[in-house]
Parts: sequence; C-alpha cells; structure tokens
Amino acid sequence: MIYDYIIIGSGIAGLNAARLIPKSKKVLILCKKFPWECNTFYAQGGIATAVDEKDIPSHIKDTLNAGVNYNNKQAVQVLSENSNACIKDLISDGLEFDLNDKGELAFTKEAAHSRSRILHADGDATGRMMHLFLLKECNHDLETNAVVNDLLIENNICYGVQYFTSETEEKIAYAHNTIIASGGIGSLYKYHTNSTTVAGEVQGIISEKGLELKDMEMMQFHPTVFKGTSFARKSLLSEALRGEGACIVDENNYRFLFDYHEDGELAPRDVVSRSIFDYNKKTKLGIYLSFEKFEKTYFRKRFPNIYANFNNLGYDLPFEKVPISPAFHYAMGGIATELNAKVKTMKNLYAIGEAACTGVHGANRLASNSLLEGIVFSKVAVENSMKENFQIKKENYTKTIKTFTRNNEIDKDIKNSLRKIMWDNASIVREEKKLIDSLNQIESFLKEDIGRLLFLRLLTAKSILEAAIDRKKPLGAHFIKEREC
Ligand code: FAD
Ligand code: SIN
Repeated sequence: MIYDYIIIGSGIAGLNAARLIPKSKKVLILCKKFPWECNTFYAQGGIATAVDEKDIPSHIKDTLNAGVNYNNKQAVQVLSENSNACIKDLISDGLEFDLNDKGELAFTKEAAHSRSRILHADGDATGRMMHLFLLKECNHDLETNAVVNDLLIENNICYGVQYFTSETEEKIAYAHNTIIASGGIGSLYKYHTNSTTVAGEVQGIISEKGLELKDMEMMQFHPTVFKGTSFARKSLLSEALRGEGACIVDENNYRFLFDYHEDGELAPRDVVSRSIFDYNKKTKLGIYLSFEKFEKTYFRKRFPNIYANFNNLGYDLPFEKVPISPAFHYAMGGIATELNAKVKTMKNLYAIGEAACTGVHGANRLASNSLLEGIVFSKVAVENSMKENFQIKKENYTKTIKTFTRNNEIDKDIKNSLRKIMWDNASIVREEKKLIDSLNQIESFLKEDIGRLLFLRLLTAKSILEAAIDRKKPLGAHFIKEREC
C-alpha cells in the first residue's frame, strides 16, 4: 500500500494540511502519544493576522522589526498576504473566535505589534480551541503513539517513513508525498513551555541525511513563565496579559524594563527575556508579573484558563503578583524549506509549522505569528503537492531497511545532562567557550551506546551549538558575548 500523503505531527500545521487534502486521497497522520499532546494545544495568546488589506504592510513591518530584518522577506509576504483569507476560510468552516460587544471579531495586542490584530478563542485557550476544531474536521487516518525514527530517502526522493509503535516494534509506511509537521525542539532544554512530545528528532534525521537545517542558533525564550513548579514544562503567562496591561516588576514593585527599552514590557520578546535575565543577575531581586491594572470580573472573563490554573496553584489573580522567569519557548530555526514549503533539494518532502525554517521569523518571532505560519504554509504545501502530483515507484526501493533500538539503559542520564547543558550554555546569554565545551560533550555522548531517539536529539542539539558557535556577533534571540581582544 502506498499512501498519497504521510503527515508527521498532529498540531496546527499537520492537521490543517490534513483538512485541506481531499477525502479521496489516502492519508496517514502519525503522532507521538495523543494528538492533543502538542504545542498547538497549549497556545494561549492567539493568532495574528493582517486585519485587512491595508494592514498588510504594517504586519510585515512589525514581523521584520521583531525579526531584526534577518527574515526572508518573501516568506513574510506570503505569511501576511495569505493571513486574512486563511482565517476567513477557517471561520467559514465553523471555527469560532471571540467577538466583542458589537459582535465583531475581537482583536487584541501583544508585544511588538503596532496595533491590535490578534484573534483569540475561549479567552486564553486559542490553541486548544483551534486544535479541537481541526481534529473534528479531520477525515483521514491518524495513528497515535507513533514515533518517527527515520525518513526513507534515495536520490532526493522520500519514499516513506519508519516509526516506533512501542518500545520494541517498528513499522514502515510508504507515500508519494511526506509532510513533516513535527514541531520544534523544546524538550532539549531543562526549562521550557513546550509539550513533552516536542523533542526535535525529525530535525536530527534531516541532519543525519545531510539535508539543511537553517538558523538553528535562533531559539526564542518566553519572558513570562511561572517559576513556582519543579516540572521541566513551565506554565506560560501569555503575552496577551502584557498586551492588555500586566506589568513586570521586581520584588519592590519597580518596573525596571524601561531602563532597558523604551517600550518596556511591550519590547520584542528577546529584549524582554534578556533584560529580565540581566536584571535578576545584577540585583538578585525576584521578578514578578503584576496584574494590578485589571479589574477582577474582566480578568476572569478575558483570561478564564489562566485565572483557573493559578487559582488552583493558590494565587488570587488579579490581586496577587506571580513569580516569573524566562524559559525556552520556540524554535525560529529548523528544516530549511523553499517558499513552496518543500525541503530544500527534495522532490516530494515538505516541512511546515515550527519544524520548518522558511526564514519567516528571522532572528526573533513576532508574538502569535506561529499559529498563523502553521495554517498558511500547510496550505502552501498542500497546494504545491497537489499541483505536482509526484508519484513514487515502490519497485525502485528494494534496499533492506535498518532497524533501530528505541532506548538504552544509559539514555536517561545523558538526556538529563543534555537538557542541563543546553539550558546553561545555549540559552539566553551565550559564550563561545561554553558553546565549544558543550559541543565536545555532545560529540562524546554521540559515541556512547545510546538509543535511536536520544541519538537524533543529540544531532539536533549539535546543530544548535554549531550554528551558535558560527555566529560570532549577537543578533536577535542569539545573544553571544563578544570575545575581548
Ligand atoms: P506542534 O503543535 O508542536 O505539533 C507537533 C506534532 O508533532 C505533535 O503531534 C507531536 O506528537 C508530533 N511529533 C513530534 N515528533 C514526532 C516524531 N518523532 N514522530 C511522530 N510525531 C512527532 N504561537 C502563536 O502563534 N500564538 C500563541 O498564542 C502561542 N502560544 C503558545 C503557548 C505555548 C505554551 C507554547 C508552547 C507555544 C505557543 N505558541 C504560540 C507557539 C505555537 O503554539 C507553536 O509554534 C505551534 O503550535 C506549532 O505547531 P506545529 O503544528 O508546528 O507543531
Ligand atoms: C503567548 O501567549 O504569550 C504566546 C504567544 C506566542 O508564542 O506567540
């Protein structure tokens, strides 16, 4: 059996691609654990869109400003020019965004946006509501607990994928087109906001095959993450809170961010994260998110999930401030793709969503542009693949396929070391020597008798460190201390 499409990942990018592929096609979606265990499900703030034709230049300008003009400008154009039509298409298929008192779409503002242009659903549960909608719309086969461990590639053609279905079992599936929508790399860091399913194995496969990973040094740290739990996955306090008036203060209630940037809390995300890191290092004072500008009834209605989560944690919002710290949040870098979403040099392999790097986000992603990227570039990938109608010939592929061991005894300790190394040395502020030492450490881990999944994660971590070492000067999210002469 040959599928028309295999889609790796069931987040917004994968499920929207599936929605746009006709029911008549044979499609297999693969995901780890359950379909809702993905970053999309946890997205709070919303989805950005150019509000109308007139807003496109301004949305483009804001995206480029946040990305420090390192963005691929054509990709930004594709993103913004398609945004409104993609949102309208979702709404006409039944997705409901929140409305204002007049029954019109309620747009909100987040950092580095020059106007309100972010749509949200169920207040602060935008990702969950979009995911639920896309899952309901899904007409194709979805296999859960399927962990992709290899792409079957010969002569620039991907003819299928190999995946673990349990600790010991592997399966092969063949397809005319494969779409990678496997998300970012969050679990490589000790502290992050991401789903546990997001660990960057597919980026590792791409690196192993000698295909291009791009901008891997560009990793984004979200400034306002709740500090008070011991889990690696930290609860996010959405940027929409700051967009609507929440302030970052020290334990003496001083709003120190204006000492770093004229826009204070609404400066680009990399600036805010770095400033918090620096201020805390210098002063050793605790840092908090304060909600004192909010009135309680409004707060509960606008941010019902954050209100309920923090109520369970013992905080009476908006009256109490919450201790925060930056944590890893988003990968701007990823699998290098053309504007048509094809993996560079490949004939029938696509990458979309956070896994991909068209260069659209440049050196720092503008808030709420990621859900948008997922819906726009999934459409681009499906349209392009339908037009090209590439067909593989299975009889060409007769090589024996290698089998893998999923996990080994020593993996757990190395995984923990890996996360600590990445957090300590490849996060908000970087130093060349520490990056080089980390790379050497990763190289030595790669020589150990480790399982396939850890091997792939280490390859991805290696590509982040190498890219960070190669970029000697700070740019956007990549802040490296320059060597003293
Ligand atoms: P994901 O939604 O992460 O899905 C990845 C999928 O790939 C999962 O199904 C996973 O199981 C699967 N997968 C991974 N590896 C494998 C493998 N080896 N084999 C098989 N399957 C695999 N962006 C915004 O624009 N607005 C927001 O408000 C916003 N808020 C956010 C809040 C949080 C807490 C987080 C973590 C992110 C937020 N983001 C937001 C970013 C945004 O949610 C993500 O970038 C986006 O959802 C990524 O979508 P995706 O489809 O590319 O990947
Ligand atoms: C948030 O709600 O702060 C996250 C927004 C984003 O990552 O774009």
